[in-house]
Amino acid sequence: MSGESDVLVSAEGVVKHFPIKQGIVFKKEVARVHAVDGVDLAVRRGETLGIVGETGSGKSTLARCVTGLHPVTAGSIRFEGTDITKLSRAGLKAFRRDVQMIFQDPYGSLNPRRRVGSIIGDPFAIHGIADGADRRRRVQELMELVGLNPEHYNRFPAEFSGGQRQRIGVARALAVRPRLIVCDEPVSALDVSIQAQVINLLKDLQDELGLTYIFIAHDLSVVRYVSDRVAVMYLGRIVESASAGDLYGRPRHPYSAALLSAASIADPDEAERAERIVLIGDVPSPIDPPRGCRFHPRCPKAQDRCIAEDPPFVPREGDPPDHRTACHFPVLPGERLAGREAGIAQVSTEPELPEADPGAGGSS
Ligand SMILES: Nc1ncnc2c1ncn2[C@@H]1O[C@H](COP(=O)(O)OP(=O)(O)OP(=O)(O)O)[C@@H](O)[C@H]1O
Ligand SMILES: [Mg+2]
Repeated sequence: MSGESDVLVSAEGVVKHFPIKQGIVFKKEVARVHAVDGVDLAVRRGETLGIVGETGSGKSTLARCVTGLHPVTAGSIRFEGTDITKLSRAGLKAFRRDVQMIFQDPYGSLNPRRRVGSIIGDPFAIHGIADGADRRRRVQELMELVGLNPEHYNRFPAEFSGGQRQRIGVARALAVRPRLIVCDEPVSALDVSIQAQVINLLKDLQDELGLTYIFIAHDLSVVRYVSDRVAVMYLGRIVESASAGDLYGRPRHPYSAALLSAASIADPDEAERAERIVLIGDVPSPIDPPRGCRFHPRCPKAQDRCIAEDPPFVPREGDPPDHRTACHFPVLPGERLAGREAGIAQVSTEPELPEADPGAGGSS
């Protein structure tokens, strides 16, 4: 199941920095945002890799690197074994048929002045695949596939509800028969009642078409529902990745444990977890991330070693090989994360989420 040939897309040492420049004539780099800072990941064929993490942790930037929308600062991204960071323009165009993105905003991502049929048919035009009556037929097939009425081909986006508009986005993404779809907060802008419909549509399409997904969301329960494996990001790094069952049942990184406890969706049978670990303080600036472990200023388990030494992202004792954690002192089974004297993190038994909890995984 975990052989090399099972891997559809992998990233190794991916770095994406955004330079901040100042000056009117001669722009000089004064700082750089370390949006993604050394990420390794592998996504297997037909699976869904969920990515979670607080706002600004680099999820969307990583997604854009994987889809070739952002050139990387360093590292490699392999799709079917080919390093896409080294592709020519023509190679990149061909790659973009294999990989599509679905975005959060079903309102903003559709041009209100264009008819839905032509929006969904865009990829056919861009890639010169079909035109005329053939394109129309294919677009109507796609509309049917995603549960839209094909007779609404000539309507405008405003004539559709939010959930239907996201279906338009899904249909457009499917037009070129991609292998990988990167869903960046695909349901965050939708009513809860509609979210389930769109998520179930994505799941059905995955089974039907053998799609592979990278699924980014703030809502940890949504990620659990859709994902086979989950990666947790913090300040440009993946700090833990494991099967969804392992990660939610037995988080090893104190950050993952805090995120899950704040969202209160860890295994309900484990009464221990009724306690919420509250992360205090803001995420440090990605312009000047802390040295050593980036989470150490907020970590209830931090020791001197965490300040001095960047922890490797490897399987920890007792964990399966695909459960990797970047932490010198991973959470032990049944361990309670105690409060810290410095007041940086503490344990709360309050049933309600604290209002200003940055670790709650709430909306951005
Ligand atoms: N084009 C850009 N130029 C400069 N900085 C950027 C750019 N895009 C993203 N960043 C910065 O990179 C960091 C990571 O941003 P990113 O959007 O990837 O985070 P995210 O995890 O997707 O957050 P959210 O959950 O809010 O969507 C942030 O500090 C952000 O301000
Ligand atoms: Mg984002």
